[in-house]
Amino acid sequence: MQTITQKELTLVKPDDFHLHLRDGVALSSVVNYTAAQFSRAIVMPNLKPPVVNTEMALAYRERILRCVDEKYNFEPLMTLYLTDNTSVESIKTAAESNIIKALKYYPAGATTNSDQGVTDIKKTYAALEAMMGSGLPLLVHGEVTGDDVDVFDREAVFIDKVLTPLAKDFTELKIVFEHITTRAAVDFVMESNDKVAATITPQHILLNRNDLFKGGLQPHHYCLPILKAENDRQAVLTAATSGNPKFFLGTDSAPHARNTKETSCGCAGIYSAPNALEIYAEAFDSAGQLDKLEAFASHYGADYYDLPRNTEQMTLIKKEQAIPEFLPFGDEEIVPFRAGGTCSWQLKK
Ligand code: DOR
Ligand code: ZN
Repeated sequence: MQTITQKELTLVKPDDFHLHLRDGVALSSVVNYTAAQFSRAIVMPNLKPPVVNTEMALAYRERILRCVDEKYNFEPLMTLYLTDNTSVESIKTAAESNIIKALKYYPAGATTNSDQGVTDIKKTYAALEAMMGSGLPLLVHGEVTGDDVDVFDREAVFIDKVLTPLAKDFTELKIVFEHITTRAAVDFVMESNDKVAATITPQHILLNRNDLFKGGLQPHHYCLPILKAENDRQAVLTAATSGNPKFFLGTDSAPHARNTKETSCGCAGIYSAPNALEIYAEAFDSAGQLDKLEAFASHYGADYYDLPRNTEQMTLIKKEQAIPEFLPFGDEEIVPFRAGGTCSWQLKK
């Protein structure tokens, strides 16, 4: 049970249901920021090469755990990368492992390391059938690809062309519409059955597409799906703070070295891990909905994934903190969300 005073919020330690941890030195630079704030995280499989089978996921999980500071009791929840060739057999192995919690569907070419993603969802129908049978959720990057569709419309077109037929064909399949960005996505999730849920990032409730260009081009606000119009931001914020259990926390924290963002062709991804929970707290507080934060961050996602709710508690205090301009990232640097700015909440140490 959360307790809120004007200056403090004590809540059950949350989980991050959408996280990129990368591998190697990048992994060791980022994972403890998440472990400090979150008990568990759904770890995305878009490595190079992608994590396409249980064996690879188990090895990746070991590499993650080796980087976690022993003071944290952090549990990585592993996912597999769905391809046109994912077999029914590999779904069965994944389900029996108890370690694999979901499969991630990247439309081929939609985002970072998605070139081996799905070219046509129909090619995965046997795998989806097996997932439905074993209760493994499908995590969806919901954007169509191709230059014929405007980048700001890709999520809405995906709902019409892909997601609506998919949800009709697999009414018992658990589907998480990841990092939703539009009013259309909010409406789709609310109108769907209780198998369909969505994650919501900090950037999509705090920023709109003007923030991509404010004072000049802002590469650290570039992520996919791209920031949308103010009307969409408001709809997503309202969903996040509504107390509807279909909407829960997933940061989509996506680390890229500074030089790969501040360049002529910059990578997509916002690195929010170091202050993610505090930034959500600020957003919920500004919306006058702080009392909805604990369920969004610590209850609904766990319930959806049939995981026990965490029991450890943590406290946030309303006290301004400065966000650094950059942080170490192996031998390189990384620029966190809100770099050089402030956040009005912080974790109580
Ligand atoms: O902005 C993004 N970055 N969106 C994604 O879907 C992938 C992610 C990444 O892995 O960098
Ligand atoms: Zn992601």
